Amino acid sequence: MEHHSTKYHTGTGPLNIKGTIVFHDQDYLNDYFRNHWKPSLDAYVYSGYETIAAKIKPHEWLLDVGCGYNPFKKLLPNVVGVDPAMDEADFQVTIEDFYATKKFDVATCLGSLNFGDDAVVGRQIHKMVSHLKDHSRVYWRLNPGRRDHASEKCQGIPFYPWSHRRLGEFAELFDFRQCNEQTETNGKVVRLYAEWHR
Ligand SMILES: C[S@@+](CC[C@H](N)C(=O)[O-])C[C@H]1O[C@@H](n2cnc3c(N)ncnc32)[C@H](O)[C@@H]1O
Repeated sequence: MEHHSTKYHTGTGPLNIKGTIVFHDQDYLNDYFRNHWKPSLDAYVYSGYETIAAKIKPHEWLLDVGCGYNPFKKLLPNVVGVDPAMDEADFQVTIEDFYATKKFDVATCLGSLNFGDDAVVGRQIHKMVSHLKDHSRVYWRLNPGRRDHASEKCQGIPFYPWSHRRLGEFAELFDFRQCNEQTETNGKVVRLYAEWHR
């Protein structure tokens, strides 16, 4: 199930289980998330949609980066969901290609800035942060590089090997304070959770 495309090489990914280097290729990711990936039906302990929604005030504006099926839309009044693969997104583009005239109070990156290498992920975080107010926060769910999705096709995904420490380095770079670091589960898989505040 290796992915051999040489299109859009914007960085190298980590080795997959067969020892083949897989690359960040947005077309491949879009096909994977649109046609093969299924969202978790069981809530994550810290990054479950209702748990996060309860932390966001009704007047605040949320930018949901990689919104998937845009689950916050039915939980909060002011949501903009961005996702290149999903018809349910308010803007069907990558965060790299998203432009807005207003600044947001909060961003969620729930499993979405998780593909490619330091250069790709760093660029995406930089773009996400550029849409936030000076006083803002970010809620994170991170896959620490586990190819544990139900679809075998996930073997071709260049998961970024997230750790709290690595996220903390990005937080410093973008002047956020990282807090509430947790390891969480939805009963099936293990993920990392953290918050950024500034
Ligand atoms: C693991 S899914 C999580 C979806 C959703 N956040 C959730 O919790 O159900 C990752 C999502 O990130 C999106 N994604 C991938 N690359 C992206 C990019 N460059 N910009 C924005 N979203 C991206 C995918 O299309 C996919 O819907």
